[in-house]
Amino acid sequence: MKILVTDPIADAGLDRLREAGHDVVTAYDVEGADLREQIRDAAGLIVRSGTKVDAELLDAAPELVIVGRAGIGVDNIDIDAATERGVIVANAPEGNVRAAAEHTVAMAFAVARSIPQAHARLKDGEWAKGDYLGREVNNKTLGIVGLGRVGQEVAKRLGALGMDLVAYDPYISESRADQLGAELAELDEVLDRADFLTIHTPLTPETEGLIGSEELARLGDGFVLNCARGGIVDEAALAAAVEEGTLAGAALDVFADEPLDPDSPLLDVDEIVVTPHLGASTEAAQENVATSAADQVIAAINDEPVVNALNAPSVDRSAFPRVRPYIGLAETAGRIAVQLFDGRVNSVEVEYAGDIAEEEVEIVTASALKGVFRPLEVRVNAVNAPGVAEERGIDVTESKTSQSDVFQSRVSVVVSDGEEDIRVCGTLFAGDDPRIVQIDGYRVDAIPHGHMLVARNHDKPGVIGFIGTVLGENNVNIAGMYNGRETIGGEALTVYSLDSEVPDELIEQLEEDERIIRAQYLALNNE
Ligand code: NAD
Ligand code: MLT
Repeated sequence: MKILVTDPIADAGLDRLREAGHDVVTAYDVEGADLREQIRDAAGLIVRSGTKVDAELLDAAPELVIVGRAGIGVDNIDIDAATERGVIVANAPEGNVRAAAEHTVAMAFAVARSIPQAHARLKDGEWAKGDYLGREVNNKTLGIVGLGRVGQEVAKRLGALGMDLVAYDPYISESRADQLGAELAELDEVLDRADFLTIHTPLTPETEGLIGSEELARLGDGFVLNCARGGIVDEAALAAAVEEGTLAGAALDVFADEPLDPDSPLLDVDEIVVTPHLGASTEAAQENVATSAADQVIAAINDEPVVNALNAPSVDRSAFPRVRPYIGLAETAGRIAVQLFDGRVNSVEVEYAGDIAEEEVEIVTASALKGVFRPLEVRVNAVNAPGVAEERGIDVTESKTSQSDVFQSRVSVVVSDGEEDIRVCGTLFAGDDPRIVQIDGYRVDAIPHGHMLVARNHDKPGVIGFIGTVLGENNVNIAGMYNGRETIGGEALTVYSLDSEVPDELIEQLEEDERIIRAQYLALNNE
């Protein structure tokens, strides 16, 4: 498969993709129509923060299965647009955490001890020893905004260097903060108490502009460190506060627009230290994120769980082998149910009985929905199926019971319009051999594959022979036949596995016979 890599990543990641047999195409600095042309036949895309993955780019990529982000931040990727198009987005959230934390610590020292400024002057031949009087971090207070992965690593490091820690993060527990020796407080209190303020949140509508002129005024004669994302701190307000001397200084690795405009006011203020988004730029971090992104692309293409998927149903890697065979079974049951159902689908229920009910089945339910939505024109898969259901106002329920009749595990898909419903139940024989074992209450035993005919008929002598003759005369070969009936002489439902399609005329011919109540052709071939 073609994997397009549009931002430079470590060779280890590229090698891993090649070893997995993929055709790796690197296209750095390619934009617009050229990029859209390159992505047309790509199954995977790997980016860092440089490539903007928006709806327009995704629309140009009909084959795309996954966007792998070699790094943490996904603000350059339109995840909603990817989800709508059934494209997985996965990041590499662990690999560069320590690198980003170390860079933050380095930036704290750089700005508090004026290292870059003194360095530049000495390189220019000036011994400016008397011009710099730095501040120590020891016994100062570090205010942390965002106590997630990077924030916690920074807390450990700067805490060990003698700083008191106070943090603002509405989504972290007191106990976790306690373990780190950090006190949780509201943002205003953090600003009031901090000598150094360090930002470690993602850029979201909530955090955009979180630190503006008022917040900087509250911070007073302190330092701001931002190695998270540009846009969280108001750059103009920051430049003004440092310029005016209300703030002692700032150290920034990230900017609202990158690359930073050479005319940015930030560059005119001596006490503002800047680096060009280097937080993750260590050998170890780059290798980690590149191999992690590559692994996830490989997994997605192999239909295996994508551990750091941000928009796909999650599945525990160790449980995946147990859940995997049910993914296809549920999709097939969904496909059969929707083809047999005449009404408008208002709700879909996926029932799990027996051993499978013990497992995390989010991905199986999503696959059942994928089967139900197969007739839609939009490309539906387990990533966007729950969203498609929501968009269409279709209720989706999942139910579980440890009790299963004769089967060790059973998955049933029920589609309903609120009045009528149809239930299709499947199981796995010998752990991986799919069977449809019940349709609309009739016990059957059908191998779901290729072409099927489901006939409802009165249980009278000769009906099965008649159907066989009509099919045979029209060159439709029967591979298997499974008959279920309510009572002798009552109604019966027969499932035929066929080697080819049943044309509409044949269905009409079958239904002309008064013993046949209904005949429906189902296409299960996977094209
Ligand atoms: P994370 O998701 O582990 O942590 C983010 C934390 O921010 C979470 O604890 C969350 O609860 C908190 N948060 C969210 N909204 C908040 C709000 N409104 N107010 C306060 N806290 C809020 O993310 P991470 O892996 O620690 O990454 C942190 C940031 O660092 C991200 O922006 C990431 O993109 C960036 N990053 C930059 C570099 C770099 O090269 N400079 C490298 C790695 C990460
Ligand atoms: C990240 O989000 O992982 C960082 O910004 C690192 C990067 O991609 O350069």
